[in-house]
Amino acid sequence: MANVVVVGAQWGDEGKGKIVDWLSERADVIARFQGGHNAGHTLVIDGEVFKLSLLPSGIVRGGKLSVIGNGVVLDPWHLVKEIAGLRGQGVTITPETLMIAENTPLILPIHGELDRAREAQISVAKIGTTGRGIGPAYEDKVGRRSVRVADLADEATLELRVDRALVHHDALRRGLGLDPVDREALLAQLREIAPSVLEYAAPVWKVLNEKRKAGKRILFEGAQGALLDIDFGTYPFVTSSNVIAGQAATGTGIGPGSIDFVLGIVKAYTTRVGEGPFPAELHDGDGQRLGERGHEFGTVTGRKRRCGWFDAVLVRQTCATSGVNGIAFTKLDVLDGFETLKICVGYDLDGTRLEYLPTAADQQARCTPIYEEMPGWSESTEGARSWADLPAEAIKYVRRVEELIDCPVALLSTSPEREDTILVTDPFAD
Ligand code: IMP
Repeated sequence: MANVVVVGAQWGDEGKGKIVDWLSERADVIARFQGGHNAGHTLVIDGEVFKLSLLPSGIVRGGKLSVIGNGVVLDPWHLVKEIAGLRGQGVTITPETLMIAENTPLILPIHGELDRAREAQISVAKIGTTGRGIGPAYEDKVGRRSVRVADLADEATLELRVDRALVHHDALRRGLGLDPVDREALLAQLREIAPSVLEYAAPVWKVLNEKRKAGKRILFEGAQGALLDIDFGTYPFVTSSNVIAGQAATGTGIGPGSIDFVLGIVKAYTTRVGEGPFPAELHDGDGQRLGERGHEFGTVTGRKRRCGWFDAVLVRQTCATSGVNGIAFTKLDVLDGFETLKICVGYDLDGTRLEYLPTAADQQARCTPIYEEMPGWSESTEGARSWADLPAEAIKYVRRVEELIDCPVALLSTSPEREDTILVTDPFAD
């Protein structure tokens, strides 16, 4: 049986929610392996809208096991809120349907405060984070001073972990002009929330390996996008986790050999939220039109997304670093009605043509896009369910994208509705 990893192949917001939901219907287990509640996945099922940011998308479907892996950073208060919201929409969530890895690091209120305080103070190269404490929580993980899920079960361990974290945080807060942490209040908050998290705690690595051996289908649900990867993204304007497909293994405790198919989600144009380089960004009417037609506002922060033409150079790069076997191409309908479409096929750096985005920040800033133009189409592609429903120019656009990124289309999505999908290759096929 196949296990599938889904990753965003741009800067996030590629339309993963719908594709993951579509795939999760065929999966037995759906696992998140990185990020936290900085993600925003919107699912539309039978006309009802579900907004998820921490929980795996499979949670809204009955009979599935949803898993939060150790690669995630978990805000327990947000967890409780998101569960309550979904229950209010009639979703059943129990320890049988949701498991959280015992070794998952927690996001504490001090992480959010630090994230926001830093962003407010940094005058040089502000990141434009979601302000949810993601970066500081990952810093504490690698700094070996996290409070992890399992620590909530034992009072002495919990105090030890908190004290270890506070040695670092109090020093940092002094420097930022923040009050020292109220240790007793933090411990009281953690004691209060502990049972609501511990009821879902499990040795996720073990459960997943057993499921795999039993021939169950596992879907690994990535959040954000590969260009926000801490190693391969547009550093430092990135998130603080590895986003690329390899993280599915380390972020859950399953061997890399258990991954059979990597599906990259790719939007028919490019967007990014927050600061950082974006060579194909548009500041004109075309950019505005993409944003309006594509409803490009952040699910988590409500921020307006920056928009630009499709950048084949970047997607070729992310398909390579994630080992993408096929892409799900989304939001093609947003391009309906453009007379001419542009695709970024290379960069000009001081007169030299580059076929990849260089790492050095100054070079990235000097890269100007080299565009190829293609004729657009006037017909609507919204809701197309077969190639025959698409205008010839739209098919040519898709074929050219495949060529340029060196990766085939496995799925084509033509509206937020699940049925409006053209299936070329089933990622779960044996
Ligand atoms: P952080 O993950 O909150 O630290 O934010 C770091 C960067 O990642 C910022 O540019 C955010 O806008 C971006 N980011 C984080 N999560 C998402 C997401 O789910 N979609 C798009 N961008 C994101």
